[in-house]
Amino acid sequence: MEMNKIKEIVGQMTLEEKAGLCSGLDFWHTKGIERLGIPSEMVSDEPHGLRKQDQTADHLGINDSIKAVCFPAGCATASSFNRELLTKLGETLGEECQAENVSTILGPAMNIKRSPLCGRNFEYYSEDPFLSAEMAGALVHGVQSKNVGTSPKHFMANNQEYHRMTSSSEMDEHTMREIYLASFEGMIKKEKPWTIMNSYNKLNGTYLCENKEMLTDILRKEWGFDGYIMTDWGAMNDRVEALKAGCNLEMPSCGGATDAEIVAAVQEGVLEESVLDTSCENLLNIIFRYEENRDKTAVFQHERDQEIARQVEEECIVLLKNDDSVLPLSADKKVVFIGKYAKEPRYQGGGSSHINSFKVESALDALDFTKNVKRENITFVRGFGDKEDKTETLLVKEATEAAKKADVAVIFAGLPDNFESEGYDRKHLHMPNCQNELIEAVAAVQPNTVVVLHNGTPIEMPWIGKIKAVLEAYLGGPNPSGHLAETFPLRIQDTLCYLNYGGEHDKSVYSEGVFVGYRYYTSKEMEVLFPFGHGLSYTTFENHNLTVEKDHIRESESLKVTVDVTNTGSCMGKEVIQLYVSPKGGTIIRPKRELKGFEKIELEPGETKTVQFILEKRAYAYWSTEIHDWHVESGEYEIQIGWNARNILLSSVVYVESENVFPKVFSLNSTIGEIMADPKGKAVFEQAMAAMAGEDAQSMSEQAQGDGEAISKEMMAAMMEATPLRQLISFVPGVTKKALEQLVMGAKRLSI
Ligand code: BGC
Repeated sequence: MEMNKIKEIVGQMTLEEKAGLCSGLDFWHTKGIERLGIPSEMVSDEPHGLRKQDQTADHLGINDSIKAVCFPAGCATASSFNRELLTKLGETLGEECQAENVSTILGPAMNIKRSPLCGRNFEYYSEDPFLSAEMAGALVHGVQSKNVGTSPKHFMANNQEYHRMTSSSEMDEHTMREIYLASFEGMIKKEKPWTIMNSYNKLNGTYLCENKEMLTDILRKEWGFDGYIMTDWGAMNDRVEALKAGCNLEMPSCGGATDAEIVAAVQEGVLEESVLDTSCENLLNIIFRYEENRDKTAVFQHERDQEIARQVEEECIVLLKNDDSVLPLSADKKVVFIGKYAKEPRYQGGGSSHINSFKVESALDALDFTKNVKRENITFVRGFGDKEDKTETLLVKEATEAAKKADVAVIFAGLPDNFESEGYDRKHLHMPNCQNELIEAVAAVQPNTVVVLHNGTPIEMPWIGKIKAVLEAYLGGPNPSGHLAETFPLRIQDTLCYLNYGGEHDKSVYSEGVFVGYRYYTSKEMEVLFPFGHGLSYTTFENHNLTVEKDHIRESESLKVTVDVTNTGSCMGKEVIQLYVSPKGGTIIRPKRELKGFEKIELEPGETKTVQFILEKRAYAYWSTEIHDWHVESGEYEIQIGWNARNILLSSVVYVESENVFPKVFSLNSTIGEIMADPKGKAVFEQAMAAMAGEDAQSMSEQAQGDGEAISKEMMAAMMEATPLRQLISFVPGVTKKALEQLVMGAKRLSI
């Protein structure tokens, strides 16, 4: 609907109606106003299927919702590294929403995985903001192409479940911009989601619902967001302050209580009515967008969508290890499936994303449509029981005996439901003891042991050296082509925020800064269990012929990078080509490398394809707290093609020249190093020194060359680099304070 028309409608609303429109009707609906033709719209949980509830509503996944298709969760879909796949998933969800008359899905959930302990990581995409924004963006694109809104969540810095409603995430501007905002930024600018959900937590002491800098200055003004912002369920703190900050809709219903506060605030002159008007306009713009583009012919096609879920699953599974090519299983082999998850798979996490699945297919069921195994060659034993930490000796005995008789043992293990859920964090990375013990026992009698994992977050694998293969199923599929969207550390103690995750006194200090996930492990050259980006295939690939269009560019120039990839194995496979950028030197403390591009391609045996990337300024930039903007430091950057974040296969260097030179202001406390690093400062300094100290400067400069015995050239250079100007008065004859002040003024004039 045209904005003029919307404004006209708002003009006809009473103050009470306006305040009312900005809070929910009930758990899942916005309010309608019949006399003005404003419909009430339904919103529903996502992100991996539709959780549409009717009568008994809750936000914890306790009560049932309609029967729907459960797609792989975010942890899994991110591992696909496949944008088209996520768009397809989004289109499917969008069609389901049209069929069920749901105007907006509450997702995707896209917070950064700061620690593997976060209870909700199974819903989130990645530890990397670029990957997270790309995957979420692809999904948003798909959903919205069906004229259904999305509500990317939880904006922002909701990286723990512990005290999520009171805790403050404390971080500096640099960290916020490069990691936690960056995870939303690309998606918002490119895909313009219809709505955004603000998170429960505070950011540097201010609740997100009241955070004007985040909701209005950055989201709307800087990034161009033009939808409406709703609270997470119950995340409202002070409604009047929230409205002023740019939060448009309180969810769920407040029963009228906070609407009255708004009315009073306007009447008392504490809140300008125009703020309320704008909020209503933002809401109506989206409400009518959905209403005017309804597809009343849409039908929820459960079977078709289940097939799409299967296709999505196929690309999510990550082959972590495959010694002696024990996988794929061959049809003539006798295989024992061990573990209850082979029959009753664990395929989703707990909480608001919980789907009432219309159909659940287990690995045993999948045998019916898998060509490369014969059902009669497969046996099944349960392996472990329902008491998660108690080893049942009889079940283990049965498993080892069956394993001895088989050619291959495949253990379906993972984390039980109560180990990871919305609402609380994990305390450790262990699997239940009964499963670890089962794996050890089976591996002791069967050399060909394979472990298939059903979990939403990294775990420790004490048995990794004793088994042949590991499939991170997140959810299952036949030809693994997933790559990890997160690092699997060796132990929780190795993680960046091990000492302070969760925080104290409701403050969670992000003292690791931008060193999140692989940014930390690669910069510290640490061993991990499996690095970010890792994923094997049943075939092999070779990357070659990396070409970087130019070796010297200005920051505003695009740079074309190509690499050839060949399938050198004997079966079809998909590979993710990962491009990282690594600054070589510079004055800023930065991660060793960062992911700046990825593409997934499919190759037949022997086939070669050329993959192309176009790099822009942001590939080299960091967030400067001096200019409060992205800045590129002049210097060399290595363009790297990685097998994963740890193993770099090919690289090439490009010199990038900054086009944005900061105006420098020098003082008597500026160091000589700082002045000499600035071309203009250097010129003024050298000239002034020659004039001031003459011969003496000459002899000092000779000393500085390190021709004495006590001091080497390097030592002298290091000392001079760190010497502030004012110290020259004491050490260089002829240099006066007045002359130095003139020098500083000269440099200032020059640099402005
Ligand atoms: C969750 C949201 C969810 C909402 C509605 C909240 O508890 O944090 O992700 O969309 O409930 O169920």
